[in-house]
Amino acid sequence: MSRIAKVQLVKYSHLAHERGLTAAFGGNLSVKNENLIFIKATGAVMDDLLEGGVAVIDMDGRQLSGVRPSSEYRLHLAIYKRRPDVGAIAHLHPSYSIVAATLLEERGSLPIVTPEAELYLREIPIAPFRPAGSEELAEVTADVLGGYDAVLMARHGIVTVGRSLREAFYKAELVEESAKLWYMMRSGNAGNERKNQMLT
Ligand code: 13P
Repeated sequence: MSRIAKVQLVKYSHLAHERGLTAAFGGNLSVKNENLIFIKATGAVMDDLLEGGVAVIDMDGRQLSGVRPSSEYRLHLAIYKRRPDVGAIAHLHPSYSIVAATLLEERGSLPIVTPEAELYLREIPIAPFRPAGSEELAEVTADVLGGYDAVLMARHGIVTVGRSLREAFYKAELVEESAKLWYMMRSGNAGNERKNQMLT
């Protein structure tokens, strides 16, 4: 299983870059296998990630691999501890999602536009800004995620969860599509007050 987890992490990390769901040094994915977490190593770039760039930690955050886990390992652990149903997590930095999370931070959620987003995500809540890699970020984001499978993080990015990495990945794509649609509708709808009320 550890080989499968690493292969999956490499595959979806590359795909996330190709699809524009993250850029530069941002983002990290993880997979849980029994009580072990396979997670991108800190400083490794998702775009050219190799199996050697995958770290392994236990549920107490102890490092079991030669490479150090992502600086967001607290965030991943906080979610796995609250959500035993979750088998994989995607933390990414997609552009429209960051814009929406920042503009709508006080509103607390992204207006849902499509039936697909409603079906798969129900709601997309927004977690307030906290410093990257901090325990506060881990706690506040895991709390807001609660019973949902996606959360926007103000000025930072997104987190999506699934039973598998495939599921977490496609939910991330759906979140970014939702944020992009929201942004396009806001821009194309300037002056239409009634519709704009639905979007703010
Ligand atoms: P890491 O390289 O430590 O995973 O950091 C990337 C990141 O996205 C921090 O939020």
